[in-house]
Amino acid sequence: MKKHPAITSRDLGLEFAAICGKHFLGLEHLHYGYWPEGLPVNINNLRTAQENYTSFLLSQIPAGIRTILDVGCGSGHTSKRLSDMGYKVSCVSPSPVLSAKVRELMGDACKIYECKFEDLQTEDKYDLVLFSESFQYMKVRRSLGKTLEILNPGGYLLVCDVFRKDVERDQKGVGGGHLLSKFYSQAAASSFEQVKDIDITNQTMPNMDLLDDTLKNVVRPIIDSTINFIDGRHPLASKVIQWLYRKKIDKAYQKYFYGNRASVDFVKLKYYRLLLYRYTCKVPAANPVVSNTCPDNKAARQTTSPAGI
Ligand SMILES: C[S@@+](CC[C@H](N)C(=O)[O-])C[C@H]1O[C@@H](n2cnc3c(N)ncnc32)[C@H](O)[C@@H]1O
Repeated sequence: MKKHPAITSRDLGLEFAAICGKHFLGLEHLHYGYWPEGLPVNINNLRTAQENYTSFLLSQIPAGIRTILDVGCGSGHTSKRLSDMGYKVSCVSPSPVLSAKVRELMGDACKIYECKFEDLQTEDKYDLVLFSESFQYMKVRRSLGKTLEILNPGGYLLVCDVFRKDVERDQKGVGGGHLLSKFYSQAAASSFEQVKDIDITNQTMPNMDLLDDTLKNVVRPIIDSTINFIDGRHPLASKVIQWLYRKKIDKAYQKYFYGNRASVDFVKLKYYRLLLYRYTCKVPAANPVVSNTCPDNKAARQTTSPAGI
């Protein structure tokens, strides 16, 4: 039997979201929606908003690109659109459930690396490495180093994702995202040159209101009813389990049902940005994450990623 990489509870959540989103709402993607002015923010428009997001993302791909690596490709619908546009696409997907969906959607049109990006081993090189809302799941420096290893010189890194502002973290609030200032400094310490930095926080943050509403008005009542049901049937076992797991249950309730997760909270703590960088082959002075793929960088090159990343 084929061995899959171990998946985390976060991976499980994404798989769950993919299955439920597709089944109940016909959603194809796992990213936020892009809500232009005038598009009413409600669950019926989420699919349209997600399509808007994908269209916006794809419109930012520079000219001259032929090969793309879609890292954390979700169910593969962004890759499919890229392939339909004529790009040669490969995917990285650590989730067996999502990989199966990509295979079903794309067949032989796409090579799928079924592993974490950090563990990717390939001789193939790409003109663009895409992280559509997947960069937040990886270590910044390690992923930048890996990207340099597999980009053709002159190629591009395209990241569209949540980033944290330099403000104090609120444990009860919305999670996810790397510090934007850290990303900027790590990219500057690599052979990357910034080409675009577009703030789409206002267009994406309405998603938080939808999520907050669903957690408070759908998920919580379902969980409360289930607990009441079990209390009635197995009162002793229910009490013991609730007592044993009281800290975890309390933490989950604080985070998901009482936490500050709406768009007004999101904007205090987060950005949502599209960042496009070009791999220049220039060797940065301090603490570089240098790829060995630039022919003229041989003397300065560093063949292994620095430790501790
Ligand atoms: C929020 S989904 C985004 C999916 C898709 N890119 C989209 O825009 O709809 C995050 C994706 O990142 C993937 N992912 C999480 N950790 C990863 C890792 N370490 N390496 C590669 N992909 C990862 C998940 O399997 C999932 O496909």
